[in-house]
Amino acid sequence: MERSLSLELVRVTEGAALASARWMGLGKKDEADGAATSAMRAEFENVPMDGVVVIGEGEMDEAPMLYIGEKLGQGIPPFVDVAVDPLEGTNIVAKGTWNAISVIAIADRGNLLHAPDMYMDKIAVGPKAVGKVDIDAPIIDNLKAVAQANGKDMSDLVAIVLDRDRHTRVIEEIREAGARIKLIPDGDVAAAINTAFPDTGVDILFGSGGAPEGVLAAVALKCLGGEIIGRLLPQSEEELQRCMKMGLTNPNQVLRMEDLVRGDDAIFAATGVTDGELLRGVRFQGTMATTHSVVMRAKTGTVRFIEGTHRLEKKPLLLL
Ligand code: FBP
Repeated sequence: MERSLSLELVRVTEGAALASARWMGLGKKDEADGAATSAMRAEFENVPMDGVVVIGEGEMDEAPMLYIGEKLGQGIPPFVDVAVDPLEGTNIVAKGTWNAISVIAIADRGNLLHAPDMYMDKIAVGPKAVGKVDIDAPIIDNLKAVAQANGKDMSDLVAIVLDRDRHTRVIEEIREAGARIKLIPDGDVAAAINTAFPDTGVDILFGSGGAPEGVLAAVALKCLGGEIIGRLLPQSEEELQRCMKMGLTNPNQVLRMEDLVRGDDAIFAATGVTDGELLRGVRFQGTMATTHSVVMRAKTGTVRFIEGTHRLEKKPLLLL
């Protein structure tokens, strides 16, 4: 993959973030998602790659754009798998709260897990705790291992968990162990990434969220030297069949980094839509807008934060 592709991908996430941020706080999550998706689709036309969507807005018959199997880019090498979430945190934008991002991950063709749209149990940690956690181990054991790896007392440790009824037991166990908790309403991609940035104050992610989001987080954590381990949680016979169709013969399989994203190269780009611990959200003032993005590459481990200033009067169609 060309290095320059990184910047091209940031243009795409910037476009989606700018389009969806206009809907912040308006209570219209579908409109916000639609705006992000159309902008992302349009921006992809300028990207010099031959991409196929493996994680997108849905199957071909249920999504007009960025559907699984859709070809993206200018149709020239490199040949890549593309995972997108034009708006990760649709409810977040509708309410104007924290950590909505626009996200893309790419890897060489065939290297991203074609994760079906269902729940995945996840555990994610930053670089110091890689190899120390086990999705099948008791929560207290994982917390002790991360406390030791991160050089913290248990009472200083922060676990991040989606605030859902299905996580009641997980939350109780973390509390019983004596660690602190950050309960989030949505957005477990940003949450998983935050475990790799000590400044965010987050040490470990527990709990289930979307499987596609698990693959996106895996690409980011691969670039950052962190780790996410997952297991699909099919809720019905239909979801079980979907796993099989996508080539996952054993849906109970523990999915490790090398199962989620293979090979030694991958690129991850994200732009903040609303403010978060890592990325600031989009700011508008008159004809100006600013964006804050991160782009990283697994092969080199380079992480870049990019602040974009956009003159909207020069981009009436929001093409950057
Ligand atoms: P959307 O952007 O599709 O609304 O997803 C937000 C999210 O919170 C993800 O970050 C997370 O993986 C998933 O939803 C959790 O699903 P659920 O809301 O069903 O618990």
